[in-house]
Amino acid sequence: MVKGRAHPLVAGNWKMNGTVDMLGHIRHMSAAIDIDPRANVEVVVFPPATLLPAASHLCRSTPLRLGGQDCSAEHSGAYTGDLSAQMLSEAGAAYVIVGHSERRSRYQETNEVVSQKAGTAIRAGLTPIICIGETAGQRAAGLTLPVVEKQLAESIPEGVDVADVVIAYEPVWAIGTGNTPSVDEVSEVHAAMRATLEKRHSRSAGSIRLLYGGSVKPSNAHQFRAIENVDGCLVGGASLNADEFLAICSAFGRQNNLSKRI
Ligand code: PGA
Repeated sequence: MVKGRAHPLVAGNWKMNGTVDMLGHIRHMSAAIDIDPRANVEVVVFPPATLLPAASHLCRSTPLRLGGQDCSAEHSGAYTGDLSAQMLSEAGAAYVIVGHSERRSRYQETNEVVSQKAGTAIRAGLTPIICIGETAGQRAAGLTLPVVEKQLAESIPEGVDVADVVIAYEPVWAIGTGNTPSVDEVSEVHAAMRATLEKRHSRSAGSIRLLYGGSVKPSNAHQFRAIENVDGCLVGGASLNADEFLAICSAFGRQNNLSKRI
């Protein structure tokens, strides 16, 4: 079992992949997860928003949860193309990813915007997964901890109960590259995040879930699972393959037999 204090969470971010033919994956995963509730891991899939209503129908009365990949910082109005947190919630989402590095770099989303999105999500009843992480250049310059701590401080909305948010540490250079930080490097960042959160929000910081993300695969999931203060993972590419994703879920669960039963 994960040595962190919280119920582990494994999140699968499909990004801009998946048309209706991928709904079969949702059916397969919800059936596999449903037969083994002892796995003791919360599993959330983030398909494109267009698939949420149908996916939500497929996984109703199973433990599989759904999320949106982003939401607007606004409640409603003239924001062509954007989706509000409430819309995602109505479509079947329980979670939403905010501040993914692809949004930070391509759409210039600042910590302030990420914090507004997280606040809007919480008010709509969603749990935001707030992503933070350093670039390769920042790591090479020895700036990993200051960068991550600044993102952490500025991306969590003021006044929220931190038990209502999930943090995903995703080094930008590890996303989609097959390169991962070492166990010691992940350990160092996660311990620093936990300590910072405990200092700022002492009461509930122990239960906040800290995920690792960036090139997680069935072959390396056990190594991340064993790290103290890693309470789950955010998976991109490997979540597009239902069997690989379920193997990662098994690695993070208490019972390591989920994949054997599908
Ligand atoms: P990856 O993506 O698992 O394909 O590296 C992770 C992410 O973008 O969250």
